[in-house]
Amino acid sequence: MTAHITLKEQVQERYGAIAEQHLSPAAAAPIELLEARPQAEVSCCGPAGGCCSPGDSAQDVSLAQALYQEADISGLPDSVTLASLGCGNPTAIASLQPGETVLDLGSGGGIDCFISAKFVGSTGRVIGVDMTDRMLALANQNKAKLGLTNVEFRKGEIEDLPVESNTVDVIISNCVINLSPDKAAVFREAFRVLKPGGRFAVSDMVTEGEWPEQLKANVGAWAGCITGAIDQQDYLQQMREAGFVDVAVESRSSYGLEDLDSLDKASQETLLKDLERSAIPADVRLYSARIVARKPTA
Ligand SMILES: C[S@@+](CC[C@H](N)C(=O)[O-])C[C@H]1O[C@@H](n2cnc3c(N)ncnc32)[C@H](O)[C@@H]1O
Repeated sequence: MTAHITLKEQVQERYGAIAEQHLSPAAAAPIELLEARPQAEVSCCGPAGGCCSPGDSAQDVSLAQALYQEADISGLPDSVTLASLGCGNPTAIASLQPGETVLDLGSGGGIDCFISAKFVGSTGRVIGVDMTDRMLALANQNKAKLGLTNVEFRKGEIEDLPVESNTVDVIISNCVINLSPDKAAVFREAFRVLKPGGRFAVSDMVTEGEWPEQLKANVGAWAGCITGAIDQQDYLQQMREAGFVDVAVESRSSYGLEDLDSLDKASQETLLKDLERSAIPADVRLYSARIVARKPTA
């Protein structure tokens, strides 16, 4: 239990600090008073070219551009695209339709909520849930900039969703479930809030192989979306145990842990910020995966 609290606090510090970089001063000040905290290390998930890279602006723009189609992100302000911390584009595999209700687990600065809002239109709605105050402040600031009325952000934990049962058509999420210390609870909650026949379409980090216990205890590497990632088979099995059917990995891309030297310099630096090169086990592979499933209709 104590370890869980420590991990979540570390995650909040990390992502709160990233959000703050994109908050207008007026929005940032009161939040700072609310969340008294030590100076957080401003860094994020995994290697560049995929998940969560809040480094310099030029790199961040190309990260959002790498993850999304130009049409998806056109018209979104920098405070949305530069705060993109995902490892894929769940909206591309969610087949969103006008009028649907979408729930984004760990919505961050809101990028996937705002893209989803275009698909579901004025008759649909999008709910983003996040546990970090400064991320919620950023998401609401971004929503105001965009003038959207079909998006709302709620404070909450994805293991205990502030959402009514059987009310959601589609759950999306982007590089978040790996951060949860209780993934089985996340899948149970996702199943509970989906309508019968509802869809689950997420991008997330998974592994082949298990991280050694001492690496799982490295809170920096966990909060960086590396050592919270679990074996893909275990991930899919936990989803089935929650009740999901048609559970599948649509596609995935390797993060090249097995050959760090082949990664570009930025990716190596991001990864090795949280992990000692010598500590990376030779038999663990890290992937960004697109995972889909469905809640049965009956
Ligand atoms: C890597 S960022 C991804 C943000 C967003 N999905 C995106 O693609 O830009 C992770 C986000 O998930 C939130 N988060 C992590 N664990 C959470 C939990 N257990 N409950 C709610 N939010 C969580 C963090 O506050 C952070 O905003």
